[in-house]
Amino acid sequence: MSTQKSADKPAKVTTQTVVDMKAKGEKIAMLTAYDFTMAQIIDQAGIEIILVGDSASNVMAGHETTVPMTLDHMIYHTSCVVRGVDRALVIADLPFMSYQVTTKEALISAGRVMKEAGAHAVKLEGGQYIVDTVKRIVDAGIPVMGHLGLTPQSIYKFGTYKVRATETEEADDLIRDAKLLEEAGCFSLVLEKIPAELAARVTEELSIPTIGIGAGPSCDGQVLVIHDMLGLNKEFNPRFLRRYADMNSVMTNAVQNYIKDVKSKDFPNKDEQYAG
Ligand code: KIV
Repeated sequence: MSTQKSADKPAKVTTQTVVDMKAKGEKIAMLTAYDFTMAQIIDQAGIEIILVGDSASNVMAGHETTVPMTLDHMIYHTSCVVRGVDRALVIADLPFMSYQVTTKEALISAGRVMKEAGAHAVKLEGGQYIVDTVKRIVDAGIPVMGHLGLTPQSIYKFGTYKVRATETEEADDLIRDAKLLEEAGCFSLVLEKIPAELAARVTEELSIPTIGIGAGPSCDGQVLVIHDMLGLNKEFNPRFLRRYADMNSVMTNAVQNYIKDVKSKDFPNKDEQYAG
C-alpha cells in the first residue's frame, strides 16, 4: 500500500502506522462503519482505523447477536465502506463460522474480504484456538487484528455480555492468548469489556497496539460503534459508552418537521420546484 503524500491526498494509514503510533505513545482512534456515507464522513474527520464490524448484524440488520452475519454480508458492507475511504485503514471482521472450522476455510474467507471488498486487514475473535489460523492468514500476506475479552460471536457460550476476565484464571488465559496472538503475527489487538488494570497489563506487555472498548484508558487506542457514539441507539447504555451527539433526537426532529411540512403543504415551496 502506498503511503506517498500528494497535494490532494493525505498519507494512508497502514498497519505499520498504527504499530509506530504505539511506539511513539500516540493514541489510536478507531470507529465502526458499515456504509459509504458514514465511512466518508469518518474518514474525512481524520479517524485512523475504520472497523467494518460484524456489529452490523445488530445496528444495521436488527439481529440480537452477531452470530447471523455471513461472509457475503461482510463483503457487501466492507466494499461500501472502502469506496468512501481515502486515508483510514479499513479492517473487516470475519464473521462467525467463516474461520473457525478449518484453517483453509479461514484463509479463503480472509482472501475474499481482501479481494472482493478491498479490505486492508481482517479481525478474528479468539485466543489459543485460532493461533494457527492467524499464522496461516498472516503468512499469506493478510494483516490480522486479534480480539479478546468479550468476544460477541461466543455469546451463547458466555451467556451474558458482562465484563470478562474478572477472575484470575480467565485473566491469566487472556494474557497468555494476547502473547500468542502477537507471536502469531497479529499487528494489533482489540480488548473488549475487561478490567482496566488487566488491559493496562496486556498493553504494557505487548509491542503491538491494543485497542480498547470498555477496557479503560491505558489501551493504545479506543474503538466505539458509530451508532452508539452518535447517540442513534437510545436503549444501549453500557458504562463504557460516551455519547458525542444525540442523533436520535436530531433525526426524530428532522423527520417530524418534514412530515409537518408535507401535511401543511409548506414543502415543496416555489423555490423547491422546477418551472416547465
Ligand atoms: O463488531 C464490532 O463492532 C466490534 C467492535 C465492538 C470492536 O468487534
